[in-house]
Amino acid sequence: MPRSSPIVVLDSGLGGLTVVRALRAAMPGENILYFGDTARLPYGSKTEVTVSAFVQQIIAYLRPYAPKHIVIGCNTATALALDAARVAFPDLSISGVIEPGANAAIAAVGRKIVAKVGVIATEATIRSKAYDQAIHRRREHVQLFLRATPLLAPIIEEGRLESDPLVQLALAQYLQPLIEHEIDVLLLGCTHYPVYRELIEKLAGSSIAVIDSARQCAEDVARRLRSAGLASPVASPNLAGDDGYLRCFVTDDPARFQRLAPRFLGVEIAAPQWVAPEDLYELQPVNRARMSVPA
Ligand code: DGL
Repeated sequence: MPRSSPIVVLDSGLGGLTVVRALRAAMPGENILYFGDTARLPYGSKTEVTVSAFVQQIIAYLRPYAPKHIVIGCNTATALALDAARVAFPDLSISGVIEPGANAAIAAVGRKIVAKVGVIATEATIRSKAYDQAIHRRREHVQLFLRATPLLAPIIEEGRLESDPLVQLALAQYLQPLIEHEIDVLLLGCTHYPVYRELIEKLAGSSIAVIDSARQCAEDVARRLRSAGLASPVASPNLAGDDGYLRCFVTDDPARFQRLAPRFLGVEIAAPQWVAPEDLYELQPVNRARMSVPA
């Protein structure tokens, strides 16, 4: 496989661009294909069966580009669909954001023995207990305070700014119980949330370290590529034009995605390509009968 093969990053919408931003900062030479499933978001209120099917359809759609690695840049999809995706595509290298997020949380806790860690995430991520397991596997005595924050991803996708009273009210209400528990670390367990980092830090106060999984995720991907001998050569800072490309695909409203993308990525993007959801359903590789459907 050539080193110029792309890395795929996927999410329900814009949030995974925070992961792309960290990937590009760590590995500017890499080519990236980004898939935002904007017609079918939010993933956070859906079941494992549905999210798993969506993720496998997206991977099947992008597979002809021969990706050298796939990052599920969405906590919900990582929690609900990573294991099944690895089984469905055993020949592809696939990772997620929960393990890197847990690493970031433990790094932020430092040497404190009985630290208190708060996690805000979608309903599905919290329900999956993926963060409980990932954090307690690393540090048994961490006290966890988990809070589902289902309104946040939809209002972020709407393009609402931190100055919006609705955003301020939602965040203040969601964070209050965690602040009352005097947590040491607040993990943003959804890739959409870093766009509100400034407001979250202000509400949390200076005694709480606010972290997300993006940088750890980028380091994890860089390590995987290096050990597989697939990392693109790092461009010399003096040479212009050596940066990798970023090409985006969305299932709804490419113009809106293009307009909002710079808030997540820090730079403008080229017009995304629209993918009809019907084309994805045709790629259904999941045998739903084999998957457990919650009663
Ligand atoms: N960005 C996704 C995550 O990290 C969730 C957004 C959604 O609910 O679709 O969990």
